[in-house]
Amino acid sequence: MHELVAEDREVLGDIARWIGDRLSDRAAETAPGSAPGLPVVTAEGVGTAAAWTSLRDAILPTGFPTDHPRYLAFVGGAPTPAAVLVDAALSAAAVYGGSELEAGAVVAAERAAIRWLCDLVGLPQGAHGTFVSGGSTANLSALVAARHGRQAPDGRPPGVVVAGASAHSSVRSAAAIMGCRVAVAGSPDTPLTGADLEPVLDALDPADVVAVVASAGATNTGAVDRLDEIAGTCGRHGTWLHVDAAYGGAALLAPARRGLFRGIDLADSVTIDPHKWLFTPFDCAAVIYRDPALARAAHRQSAHYLDATLADDADNPADYAVHLTRRARGVPLWASLVANGTDAYVDAVERCLETATYAAKWIDASDELELVTEPQLSVVLFRRRGWQAEDYVRWSKQAWRSGLALVTPTSLAGEVVLRLCFVNPVTSPDDVDLVLGSLLGPADRHHAVARRTNRVAALRSSRSLPT
Ligand SMILES: Cc1ncc(COP(=O)(O)O)c(C=O)c1O
Repeated sequence: MHELVAEDREVLGDIARWIGDRLSDRAAETAPGSAPGLPVVTAEGVGTAAAWTSLRDAILPTGFPTDHPRYLAFVGGAPTPAAVLVDAALSAAAVYGGSELEAGAVVAAERAAIRWLCDLVGLPQGAHGTFVSGGSTANLSALVAARHGRQAPDGRPPGVVVAGASAHSSVRSAAAIMGCRVAVAGSPDTPLTGADLEPVLDALDPADVVAVVASAGATNTGAVDRLDEIAGTCGRHGTWLHVDAAYGGAALLAPARRGLFRGIDLADSVTIDPHKWLFTPFDCAAVIYRDPALARAAHRQSAHYLDATLADDADNPADYAVHLTRRARGVPLWASLVANGTDAYVDAVERCLETATYAAKWIDASDELELVTEPQLSVVLFRRRGWQAEDYVRWSKQAWRSGLALVTPTSLAGEVVLRLCFVNPVTSPDDVDLVLGSLLGPADRHHAVARRTNRVAALRSSRSLPT
């Protein structure tokens, strides 16, 4: 079973060709939602070629790839070829990414990628962290570090996580795992401000507060909380500030958007997910800390079988989050940064922001569609005039089933609306035209399409948009 046979080598060649084809046509047709007959597990097995063929031809096509240019739901992810190829090789390298003892300089490569993220956020030289499976684990790890070694007046660990109302669901989940309650500040529809936070902190004993969690790119709206005000308030109350920039942090690369993030460099910990908008395959999320020694004290596992070989002063990726065995999932990010250079990253993020702006202007120029909020980053929320909740769901299911697009409704201020999230530089204005055009009813289409075409043509020529 462990010997590489001729059949495996043939499959290897086929997988390499398949990877090449897939990455050169990310919009290739799929059959979302269909249910293939899965080959069954037997005592004898069917061989690598048969297992791979089932996966390639029957199983993988039932998904809707997150790098499809019209995957505009939730927060997608469009990895670069360099990151994908290195990720595939990493499995074959069988690297245990938890310690230098086993991973050698792989740890240094991940450390370089963490350093790049710390610099992007503006954390000082001593800042450090690790890569975990997702923003959810990153948020949990940061909150565990924030609480470590502290006591509320009753002798128990601090029991309250203060979070902006637009914080990601994983913050509530992390608080539940930790046995904490969540005190909510502000409104889910607007960015959290220092003034929203002040009364919530005033009403709590500072010793009982684990941390304040602010969003730098709320999942629902893309809005960035007022981080400088929030940092000031946290400073006055002596509270740990965790900034969840899992989705939005990538926009720090766009010079025109950096101002929105003023104050992020004052955070005690930050979540930023390369598997969202930094073009790295799943799964790759980073948690970084201003003072990594605190995180290490919280997370480093100790046991006879570990301590005998792992030097106490070693800087091991396992020591900074809720994990021990780990994939060296930061390596594909590092390799892609080395391969493509950071200018390409800036261009790719800006391209996504431009496509979001194009969609917002398209909607503005339409009689049938209406923007719900002005986008701050790359999330665009809008309504289709006259539609009820069930109309959005019907359209969304039809678009998914037909393979046109994955776009899901959400709600804002109690109203069901549509949400587009642009994190894929391959998504073009043509894709936006297809998706938004499909929302116009047959009666509207005749008049609206001609009007829109003119307006959009004007828009395109007034901006240097990708065509
Ligand atoms: C702001 C934010 N935080 C946390 C998460 C959770 O990340 P993950 O799904 O990688 O666990 C998400 C996911 O979309 C997010 O948008």
